Amino acid sequence: MSKIKPSKGAPYARIVGVGGYRPTRVVPNEVILEKIDSSDEWIRSRSGIETRHWASPEETVAAMSIEASGKAIADAGIDARQIGAVVVSTVSHFSQTPAIATEIADKLGTDKAAAFDISAGCAGFGYGLTLAKGMIVEGSAEYVLVIGVERLSDLTDLEDRATAFLFGDGAGAVVVGPSREPAIGPTVWGSEGDKAETIKQTVPWDTYAAEGHTKFPAITQEGQAVFRWAVFEMAKVAQQALDAAGITPDELDVFIPHQANVRIIDSMVKTLKLPEHVTVARDIRTTGNTSAASIPLAMERLLATGEAKSGDTALVIGFGAGLVYAATVVTLP
Ligand SMILES: CC(C)(COP(=O)(O)OP(=O)(O)OC[C@H]1O[C@@H](n2cnc3c(N)ncnc32)[C@H](O)[C@@H]1OP(=O)(O)O)[C@@H](O)C(=O)NCCC(=O)NCCS
Repeated sequence: MSKIKPSKGAPYARIVGVGGYRPTRVVPNEVILEKIDSSDEWIRSRSGIETRHWASPEETVAAMSIEASGKAIADAGIDARQIGAVVVSTVSHFSQTPAIATEIADKLGTDKAAAFDISAGCAGFGYGLTLAKGMIVEGSAEYVLVIGVERLSDLTDLEDRATAFLFGDGAGAVVVGPSREPAIGPTVWGSEGDKAETIKQTVPWDTYAAEGHTKFPAITQEGQAVFRWAVFEMAKVAQQALDAAGITPDELDVFIPHQANVRIIDSMVKTLKLPEHVTVARDIRTTGNTSAASIPLAMERLLATGEAKSGDTALVIGFGAGLVYAATVVTLP
């Protein structure tokens, strides 16, 4: 018989605040066209992207995270000292150790909150949200700050016409806290490592250093293969998340998929047979693909513009490098 006391957590968890930070510099397609043979029309019609934001040297991973988190904490109406854990999802923080989450937790004024980074590509927000829910229900934190942040402009090969136009920079953050009723549904998540080669860093850091490469590593992808996988497999995962939460498409208010390509978003809307009344995030047009930041950034914008409102039921799904994915239904803060 175990002598360990059971932990005391909240019955449920919910997102209680959201915040975003978009770098000041707005980059239109014309700038991308300086280095690749393409056209504004092609980029808009094949991806949906019109502009994206690129960070300045001062808009670091930590600085953008702190801005977004400050807004999320204010939105939640809590004090930073109530945050028990900080989870940062990123693939573009260039120092392997320590985790950037510890610096962010300190600068935000948390009371020695647990802090760590996770690497789950464009599914990173959903992975972080799932961990946060677990911590709150299990009782190891009352409030958890989940941040998705990327400076993908640092990892973009501007001479690669297959990817140069896709990526952007930014940070999105949510505060997750206790709830009396279910407000974050079961997560449907997973990985398909047999497809790991379809999105990856061009050269691993050790090879880069050992072989004296002159071109900085970048993100490379087999666009068509990833596109097909996203369109066929991710609609099924999204449906499973709806089923797991017991929500029909009619009951859904908002759909916030990972912002990778507007054609993937439109295809998922069609496959899921989402009714007209469902608000669909198409933040990609002016934000590009910001990987782990894309879902919280899109969520923040929908709420700020009034297209979505507090208490709405939203389906969120992230997918990307790994390949990994995570989908869940949430109540918006
Ligand atoms: C990258 C992406 C927008 C490319 O669109 P696509 O329709 O698949 O384009 P393709 O690679 O099939 O290329 C189609 C044609 O356009 C051309 N092309 C490719 N890039 C181009 C560019 N930047 N400008 C103009 N033409 C281009 C190709 O050469 C090809 O020409 P061809 O038909 O004469 O051979 C799309 O594949 C995509 O969004 N993929 C998924 C991204 C994603 O979800 N990532 C996951 C998370 S990070």
